[in-house]
Amino acid sequence: MIGDIIFSRFPFADQAKFKERPSLVISRADERGDFSVLKLSSQDLDREGRVLINEDDFESGGLSKSSAVDLTGITRINAKTVTRKVGKLKAQALQPILKSRICQATREFSNIAHSANRPGIDPQHPHNDQSSAISHPPSNASGVSAPYAGRVFTEDEVEAAVSSTLDFWLTLGEHGEAMQEELAATLGVKKTLLVNSGSSANLIAVAALTTHKLPAHKRILPGDEIITCAAGFPTTVAPILQNGAVPVFIDNHPVYGNARMDQLEAAYVEGKTKAVMFAHTLGNPFDLAEVCEFCHKHELYLIEDNCDALGCTYTLPVERAEKIGLQHLLKIARKGEHHWIRLETVDGLECLTAPTGTFGDLSTQSFYPPHHLTMGEGGAVNIIRRPPLGTYAESFRDWGRDCWCPSGKDNTCNKRFGWQLGELPEGYDHKYIYSHIGYNVKPLDPQAAIGRKQIEKLPAFIQARKDNWNYLREGLKELEHVFEFALPTKASGWDSEKGFIWNEPGYRTDCSWFGFMLLVKPEAPFSTTAFASYLDEHKIGNRMLFGGNLLRQPAFVQLKKDRPDALRTLDFSNPDSPSAISHPPSSSGAAYPGADRIMNEAIFIGVFPGLTKLQLNHMVKTIRDFVKSKAKP
Ligand SMILES: Cc1ncc(COP(=O)(O)O)c(C=O)c1O
Repeated sequence: MIGDIIFSRFPFADQAKFKERPSLVISRADERGDFSVLKLSSQDLDREGRVLINEDDFESGGLSKSSAVDLTGITRINAKTVTRKVGKLKAQALQPILKSRICQATREFSNIAHSANRPGIDPQHPHNDQSSAISHPPSNASGVSAPYAGRVFTEDEVEAAVSSTLDFWLTLGEHGEAMQEELAATLGVKKTLLVNSGSSANLIAVAALTTHKLPAHKRILPGDEIITCAAGFPTTVAPILQNGAVPVFIDNHPVYGNARMDQLEAAYVEGKTKAVMFAHTLGNPFDLAEVCEFCHKHELYLIEDNCDALGCTYTLPVERAEKIGLQHLLKIARKGEHHWIRLETVDGLECLTAPTGTFGDLSTQSFYPPHHLTMGEGGAVNIIRRPPLGTYAESFRDWGRDCWCPSGKDNTCNKRFGWQLGELPEGYDHKYIYSHIGYNVKPLDPQAAIGRKQIEKLPAFIQARKDNWNYLREGLKELEHVFEFALPTKASGWDSEKGFIWNEPGYRTDCSWFGFMLLVKPEAPFSTTAFASYLDEHKIGNRMLFGGNLLRQPAFVQLKKDRPDALRTLDFSNPDSPSAISHPPSSSGAAYPGADRIMNEAIFIGVFPGLTKLQLNHMVKTIRDFVKSKAKP
């Protein structure tokens, strides 16, 4: 029987004699009477790979000496060799032993099955393994592909997923709670709520600001406006519409990829504008000092879509940070305990540095595979400074309920039957009181178990993204005549020796790049499409900056036709009226030259931490060869 402790005759090395030894039965016997056991040992009890057995672990019987199960000592024996049974372990004692065996086997499996998903600098990655054929590819590197992104993990994540699945709690639980706390601490925010995607995170972040629990003038009501930008990912904008608000579009700067801050004031309408919501494009912080000043001045909410930017930081002079309402960050920085939120001297000025996703009111993350961390599917809402926003966001995430008990728990408020809300009878079960029209967008606990292992690797992942970006920039530096390379916000140039050139004293951005973006210059002797096709042929993953000018997407064109007042556009194409508000009858996207340039000319390739030197070299060589092949003789 599984769980029995037996003594049986084990052969000596020379097979001539036998020795009676104890072991733990871990499988049923087959038709020949063979079954598996783990040997017990009474020596080296605390050696790695051993699990100690106490008296309390026995359901019946016991052992005369303290013993440990040796997880590595699995043996197949026959029932005929059993001399006696001395006891049986309780199920609770047996479970961790069986689980450890499965986890150990899982790690071995993962090592073999997923070695190509290890970090690109890991010596065990097949490209770095000197004995592997692929590390010595033919000179044209045929067979080498370089995806634009991918999951990067080791046996740690696979073990965590299996272990949590064996526990079979499934719904958000122990790992979910822990991951929320770990993420909040990593970023330096008040609270983090896990959700099932970055899109859900954006949906919940906007929804939280519609709550009737906020004062009327601070609440986003149907028809209120939220300023966003034209180029980017559609689900940065969709939640504005899904929550009944009106997105007001400003243009993007084509080289930074981010919203143009000089257009913010033109988009503002007193009494109508309630919030600003932008993404930090491709791991490049948008100009947080400018946006925070604007939001502070007009008392607007700021939602930072940080889905593509985990690990970026923004630096500004303390004097300005004080003026624009960043006291919550200064307070943390002055304690000197947070690794990212800190005071430092830049250009002789006392400056504040903090990560993106901590400057506004709410921020969001995506954990879909191309992102900085992955849980397969997943995301998070960060509550930056006002804890009540966390309560509202949690309610919208969890069916709209008023109750905040974690799943499987009751009466956290200690007055489950002591509430009277709405028109419900006094004492109606708080578990089933709904204060919002909500959703259920929680992820699973095994996903959080994976995410927690990824958080441990975050510093190395961020560094790899930076290193890979720099490697590509250096490798492609001769190609500035045909490509305009992305720059971090606030940088005005790049130099092979000095790195980025910063012109505004005290301002810096440190990018945790999502991709390596470049624009094909109009004067280049090839089109963006021809370049992308060549990359495809050479198995170099490439992407547009997501939806390009979103206003030109069929969904937005249709929306404008169906409900012209659902969104508002501004015409910046006319230099005489840079802030003129227009509703162009046919193509509203025409007024956004920056977003159009991004749509027509921008491409990004990978910098994700899974890339190896072999792949990076393949990327550099392929792009150089392409440009050379197009040069006029
Ligand atoms: C800026 C931005 N926001 C939101 C999302 C949506 O995230 P998800 O795919 O997890 O829904 C993405 C997706 O990549 C994104 O790039």
